[in-house]
Amino acid sequence: MRTMQQTEASSWRPVQFLGNKLRVLDEVSKVVIRDREPGATVWDAFCGSTVVSQRLASQGMRVLATDKLVCSVTFARAMLSIGRGERADDLDALRAIGSLRMPADYELWAPYVEAEEVALTRGSAEDAIAVSRAVPLRWREASMSPAFRSVFDEVDRASMDGVHRPFASMTSTYAGTYFGVKQAIELDRLVGEVMRLFAHGKIQRWQADAGLTAVASAASAAVFSAGKHFAQPINANQQLTPFQARRLLQDRKIDVSELFLDALNQIEQSAERSGTHNAFELEAEHLSSDLLIEHDVSTVYADPPYTAQQYSRFYHVLDTLTLGVPANLQRKNGQITKGLYPVERFKSAFCSRRAAPIAFRNLAENAYDASARLVISYSESAPGSTGNSRSISLEELLQTVSGVYGACNVDVTTLDIRYRQFNQSSAAYASREDPEVLVVAEHR
Ligand SMILES: C[S@@+](CC[C@H](N)C(=O)[O-])C[C@H]1O[C@@H](n2cnc3c(N)ncnc32)[C@H](O)[C@@H]1O
Repeated sequence: MRTMQQTEASSWRPVQFLGNKLRVLDEVSKVVIRDREPGATVWDAFCGSTVVSQRLASQGMRVLATDKLVCSVTFARAMLSIGRGERADDLDALRAIGSLRMPADYELWAPYVEAEEVALTRGSAEDAIAVSRAVPLRWREASMSPAFRSVFDEVDRASMDGVHRPFASMTSTYAGTYFGVKQAIELDRLVGEVMRLFAHGKIQRWQADAGLTAVASAASAAVFSAGKHFAQPINANQQLTPFQARRLLQDRKIDVSELFLDALNQIEQSAERSGTHNAFELEAEHLSSDLLIEHDVSTVYADPPYTAQQYSRFYHVLDTLTLGVPANLQRKNGQITKGLYPVERFKSAFCSRRAAPIAFRNLAENAYDASARLVISYSESAPGSTGNSRSISLEELLQTVSGVYGACNVDVTTLDIRYRQFNQSSAAYASREDPEVLVVAEHR
């Protein structure tokens, strides 16, 4: 079954992304570019899925896209055609790697791949989960053949030393949890091939970024988790509910290579060709007015997180995949975490009740000192909603921004949408009406 990511007039969302602005692109872009000359520079400081950056670029703005997630920056580089040369303009070299069959060097996993295929063909979730429980993993305490042990030792060493793309890095860590065994092997093979082509000079940087974005897109569609992110895989040791059993079969049947090819087509069609854009990894806490002035930024668009839920928790697997260094897994009391989190996870100031007011004040001061307009997205929990509480209230945010720009220069626009919010208690998505607003501060 195919699961394509969403497109909204000129923006393609490469992966499922919490809080993405696909539904409010018109409203956001209208406010961000109001009265701006074509070619003026906009900083999308929390670019996430990059749909806002793409829309702004398509409307003639020069875009700087930054985020703390490596995967988001990779998506931005692909979708804004950064480094897309005239010599290396297409993705044909990548299409050729999309359709190979099971790679010979993964022979060690063949019995598990076969058993998984039989289970999926029979439609037996129980048998598929039995494969998930049995497949050797580098973090699982179990007896295993010396051949598996030696692969896992190598991946463990690479994770400690920060070595790029050792053999079977995804498979040895996530097979049977977030992904099926065959899917994990496919992810490893595709990433390995993209990087091999790049290392041998057969493709340029933009094509490599497009290839990695396409692999991440396939991984996002295939993951078996509540909400299609990587906060926690469904527990293979528990009895699955009938709903989970159906979802397991549906997700595990997703053909990673087919989705990789679909994503390449989307990237080729949708990547913005005009303008000269830029994207790099940046903690918004380190954004300075000097940097804004150096890049001639006229508007800063900020769409940070507002709850204690860190994005590094939801998207660590996509970061590991695009970065290419296997995760050094975090352990608590000798046990790895349920979500298979890496040791070092970024903790954003914007997620903390204590740190967020200061972080917003610094952001506003830097934008003001660079004579830039500041546009901040904010989504409030509806009264009586059980949604996660906010790191800063709208009132506090308005006070903070007004304290810098002057109250008469700050406006609030309410956007008319239905917002879908992650509901922690049910570990599922609950649709609710959460007012989404834009705080707009003008430098006059
Ligand atoms: C609400 S999402 C942005 C969604 C985005 N506008 C879109 O439409 O897809 C918040 C983003 O902020 C990033 N982020 C959180 N804290 C950050 C920080 N301190 N510095 C840079 N990026 C941060 C997260 O990685 C995430 O991508």
